[in-house]
Amino acid sequence: MKRRGLIAGNWKMNSGLVEAAQELTGSILAGLSEREGKKLLCEVLVCPPFTVLSSVNQKIGGSSVKLGAQNMAIETSGAYTGEVSGLMLRNVGCHYVILGHSERRQYYGETDEIVAKKTASAYRDGLTPIVCVGETLAEREAGTTWAVVSRQINAVLPSLPQEAAKQQQLVIAYEPVWAIGTGKVATPEQAAEVHTSIRKLLVSKLGDEVASKIRLLYGGSMNAANAAVLLQQEDIDGGLIGGAALKAKDFLTIIDSYPSA
Ligand code: 13P
Repeated sequence: MKRRGLIAGNWKMNSGLVEAAQELTGSILAGLSEREGKKLLCEVLVCPPFTVLSSVNQKIGGSSVKLGAQNMAIETSGAYTGEVSGLMLRNVGCHYVILGHSERRQYYGETDEIVAKKTASAYRDGLTPIVCVGETLAEREAGTTWAVVSRQINAVLPSLPQEAAKQQQLVIAYEPVWAIGTGKVATPEQAAEVHTSIRKLLVSKLGDEVASKIRLLYGGSMNAANAAVLLQQEDIDGGLIGGAALKAKDFLTIIDSYPSA
């Protein structure tokens, strides 16, 4: 049986003014309600900047759209100036948190070790982590794609409690760094190859039953035009979308592209 898909918008540091966030959320909700009656085949998630989480949460209200954050602190509370904890994120309605995005790794020095700690903290604070992995162009050209991706995944697996795994509470997003924000999307074959290897790795580490429940997203220049073919791949269970998630029409088209079987 196919896992329930997940289409997630990572707004990054965009649409972060209250009015803009409200407008984007409102348009997504309006589009989804037009589809009422047509059962949504995937879960829909928006991950806005911290400062608008609360107002987006209010706008979402009781709808099926879920809320997520883009990062979190390792600690729960205390003297950590500038940090936001998972507990705080839960408090404003988040169910998910993106961790280890390549922009965090690249610009803010997040190592595998930090991402592993944050993953453990997400479970402690009741959030489902979306752990991002992916190789740079130089790493792909050097033939080390799998070495990098498997290292990044192996680093976080010890942070996954069995119970959380059974409840499908881990999402891994494969985002080749060279495809992020560049318009250079991975071919379905390139993406599928890595996704299949990730699934095999999860089976070998966690067993069939748990591994089969973990959702694997593709991210990197996914848009309204290329989503369908990517989402048809066996081990691609959804998308983590940047630029195209900022336009409600495109985001809704991607949601519509999620295959029915
Ligand atoms: P783009 O869709 O803008 O390439 O961004 C992908 C991404 O980084 C999502 O986390």
